[in-house]
Amino acid sequence: MRRPFNFAWPAACLLLVALTLYVRREQLSQLPRPASSFLHPPGEVKAEPSAPTAEVVPTTTASVPSPTHHAVLPQETRTAYVNAIMNPDAADLPRLQCPKLDASRYQQLQATSKDVPDSTIQYFFALDLRQCVALLPRLIGSVVETIRFLGPKACALSVIEGNSDDGTGEVLAALQPELEALGVTFYFSTTAINPKKGDRIAALAELRNLAIQPILDNNNELKYTANDTTIIFLNDVAICPEDILELVHQRVHLGADLVCGMDWTYVGNDPTFYDVWIARALNGDSFFEIPADGNWNSAWNLFWNSADTQARFAAHQPFQVFSCWNGGAVFTAAPLLEGEGEEQVRFRTVREGECAQGEPELFCKDLWFRGHGKIAVVPTVNLEYSDEAGAKIKEAKGYTSRWVGGSEWKDEKIEWQAEPPEKVKCMAVYSNQFFEPWNQSLVPGT
Ligand SMILES: *[C@@H]1O[C@H](CO)[C@@H](O)[C@H](O)[C@H]1NC(C)=O
Ligand SMILES: *[C@@H]1O[C@H](CO)[C@@H](O)[C@H](O)[C@H]1NC(C)=O
Repeated sequence: MRRPFNFAWPAACLLLVALTLYVRREQLSQLPRPASSFLHPPGEVKAEPSAPTAEVVPTTTASVPSPTHHAVLPQETRTAYVNAIMNPDAADLPRLQCPKLDASRYQQLQATSKDVPDSTIQYFFALDLRQCVALLPRLIGSVVETIRFLGPKACALSVIEGNSDDGTGEVLAALQPELEALGVTFYFSTTAINPKKGDRIAALAELRNLAIQPILDNNNELKYTANDTTIIFLNDVAICPEDILELVHQRVHLGADLVCGMDWTYVGNDPTFYDVWIARALNGDSFFEIPADGNWNSAWNLFWNSADTQARFAAHQPFQVFSCWNGGAVFTAAPLLEGEGEEQVRFRTVREGECAQGEPELFCKDLWFRGHGKIAVVPTVNLEYSDEAGAKIKEAKGYTSRWVGGSEWKDEKIEWQAEPPEKVKCMAVYSNQFFEPWNQSLVPGT
């Protein structure tokens, strides 16, 4: 049996870089820092490697012991947040501007237009949030607006908050009466689970499982069903209602098991695809090539070795991948609820002999294993992790409606490939990348 970490000590530092890149996303605060990166678009020559200029906000690991049990926000500030979240037109707190919803494109998604029992929760929104109060008017505001559009009684919102000292938990807790009045089922809890301590991936997987727990509770089996419940699992992204609805729409239209958008980061002046540690194309390779020294110089050259995928991406049409998360995913509840015990897919950490990777990649891997490999990227949806950078990325890549609202636009289908790639790139550390069988360690004894 192969050992997962059979590399020397220096490589362990790079592992930290890779993990930090990944974990940062959960922390919202900073841009990732690819090792010795200097990014430039094709053709543009830069004399010097320009170090990323973004401020790195120091992260305090051991902050407030009891994160949310005493109020940190003045009452009126908390009220302003709640008001902004519940009222899309409220303008007293800054947020990414979003286009008005094109109701006609998405009306078939509305709960009332479906032949599903009233007791069923058709849309389950799940979020794990930490220290992101400034983003809540946009992020949760978009979720609430989407819920209003889809039909609140057929929706649930589940939020797990932890280790924030900026008032994130307080604002979320204060939403309870408002959301109840709206008629949406709201699950909210605060946890001390901290991915910065101990096994990060295990902690992140545990947090994700906590967010979807209501679906798995036996007494909820009438509410949540394999084929009628869709899960919308969002990271701390600046997302518009139309982004969420486009993902939900494409999942239905494509007949996909899971779809996600594209997420980006500004390491330099030009945006770079972010979730490169998790995402794998249908050929098993990363979305762009990262050489052993960890530089992101080829970040502009997405899908460099897959002409079909590259063409679909250029045309803004969805394409199948082995794995993606990219700031959020929309997926069927079926793999969580079908079968018994081990057959039911959950978020998890790596097993013995398995390449070190993030829980979203493992989730996709397990989906393939359970016959749910219709996984696609919807490249009209482009996300960043703050309101400011979100505005920049919408400017650079276009709002979703810029593409799908055009008179020329046609929703294409995907010709699904039934088989996963034989091998998938393991990138536990940049310095030691290799391909391993897509189903490594899935079957006991292998
Ligand atoms: C869900 O849909 C699949 C595919 O259409 C079908 O095979 C399965 O029986 C359905 N499951 C339930 C519980 O209705
Ligand atoms: C892994 O997948 C390959 C190709 O899909 C298959 O041939 C092989 O039998 C699988 N290995 C195990 C141990 O199931």
